[in-house]
Amino acid sequence: MKKIIILLCVITFGCKTQKNVVQPTGVLANEVMVVSAREEASKIGVEIMKKGGNAFDAMVATELALAVAYPYAGNLGGGGFMVYRKANGEKGTLDYREKAPLAATKDMFLDANGNVIPGKSTKSALAIGVPGTIAGVFAVHAKLGSLPLEEILKPVIELAERGVAVTQKQEERLNQYHDELNETNGHNSVLSKVYKEKDTIKYPALATTLRRISKNGRDEFYKGETAKTLVAYLQAKGAIITMEDLAQYDAKWRKPLSFKYKDLNIISMAPPSSGGICLAQIFEMIAPYDLAKMGHNSTKSIQVIVEAERRAYADRNYFLGDPDFVKMPLNALMDNNYLKERMANFSFNKATLSSDIKQGNVTYNESMETTHYSIVDQFGNAIAATTTLNAGYGSKYYCDELGFFLNNEMDDFSAKAGVPNMFGLVGNEANSIAPQKRMLSSMTPTIVEKNGKLLMTLGSPGGSTIITSVLQTILNVYEYNFSMQEAVNAPRFHHQWLPDLITFEPNTFSTQTFDALKAKGYLINEKTTPVIGKVDAILVLPSNKLEGGADFRGDDTAVGF
Ligand code: DON
Repeated sequence: MKKIIILLCVITFGCKTQKNVVQPTGVLANEVMVVSAREEASKIGVEIMKKGGNAFDAMVATELALAVAYPYAGNLGGGGFMVYRKANGEKGTLDYREKAPLAATKDMFLDANGNVIPGKSTKSALAIGVPGTIAGVFAVHAKLGSLPLEEILKPVIELAERGVAVTQKQEERLNQYHDELNETNGHNSVLSKVYKEKDTIKYPALATTLRRISKNGRDEFYKGETAKTLVAYLQAKGAIITMEDLAQYDAKWRKPLSFKYKDLNIISMAPPSSGGICLAQIFEMIAPYDLAKMGHNSTKSIQVIVEAERRAYADRNYFLGDPDFVKMPLNALMDNNYLKERMANFSFNKATLSSDIKQGNVTYNESMETTHYSIVDQFGNAIAATTTLNAGYGSKYYCDELGFFLNNEMDDFSAKAGVPNMFGLVGNEANSIAPQKRMLSSMTPTIVEKNGKLLMTLGSPGGSTIITSVLQTILNVYEYNFSMQEAVNAPRFHHQWLPDLITFEPNTFSTQTFDALKAKGYLINEKTTPVIGKVDAILVLPSNKLEGGADFRGDDTAVGF
């Protein structure tokens, strides 16, 4: 009842619900927890830790179990990012983002007149980037895992063979994509068929692929029979990915992007994700304002956050790209004085228009449908990992012989400077296409420390809205004393500089709030908007118990013991 009242208060009035003692409302566990998009995947991750495996073993299992149970975004044909914090405080991040094929060119999605060809970067086989997921899980296992890989993959392979029950939300998604999946893969392909809730879908081809990978290791995917089958499939569909592309792919360990917000230390993903840097900029820009006093989702707090988001995304779109290809002024972009200056023209009386905002003036040497899961293990290690095919079911190309979808991640590049991609993000030269370059991402797997100890691990899908979803979830816990589950449940809003619109979750903010914002010149997205993020998070409570925040917007589930 209490939870309902609090939620109603948040939803109806957007008011702040300051509580002295925060009562957890999510799933609780003493030692171990996985929160992911499907119960089956969370359970497999937990099972691995029950067997004595650590969070990194569980990461491998959960990532691949999502490829089975959540083909909408879980994948072998995509890529992602992982942030970790070991029990001893050591941190690291892994970049297993897709890369542009060797034969990719800057103008590959443009017509003879230099205009972007609609759909070419999202629906054609040229949309497919070189997949990174298998390289990613093998890199994690080699460096940090403890159980034998065969043992980790066994329950995943069994799940693929046994099959996965269709949920109501999955039935809706499959219906929604039915025509497209049929057009791309024919009506015999496993996900082209019509399924009803509670039907079981088996994935025997995927089980066989995973069994070969389990036996032959990483190179099975990048050089072996699987690679050959994949390249033959891709080339028949008109893709440009070759055996050479697969052979040259490698996941990369990168330095985490860390920053402070008040007494929190936040550890997130550096480029080629824009998540960490954007989050750092927004937190620094909002820090001088007393958000707690303004109230949760109050007009004033929305203004502060929107104005900071607007400025951060303008920088994102101009400066950021793959660090292996472009030089980025990361320190300058995170500099306190720069960010103070950036907010100097903000006034509570009137919206700043995005047309009046450009990238900031920083000096530097110019040389220039996703899914998230969070894991904490019995040893105190924590993981935040976000993985994606980009759009729902990626490019829609499903290799029947191997049993998985291929991404359409090439759309995350800027096909042409200033032309928006499928998330409405406009990019620039820093994110132009080049062979072997990684496309800029918004994925923001993030770990939060307080007083040198693990506090939270979280992340989200949602394209450009990922960063703002992660931001608001951290603020909900830290500034507004929400439980982890309440923080995930709370209504969210989003601004990304261009288009100059604030998007709100449908039916969750009051018309008074809209009117107050409009009166100050804010432009509001009045269309029915998609879900903003789908956050899966774990909070370490003062008692050291773990509270899961599994997003009700999906089938997301927290499992622990
Ligand atoms: O890396 C990115 O930013 C996008 N490819 C993420 C796509 C995504 O989150 C889609 N899910 N709703």
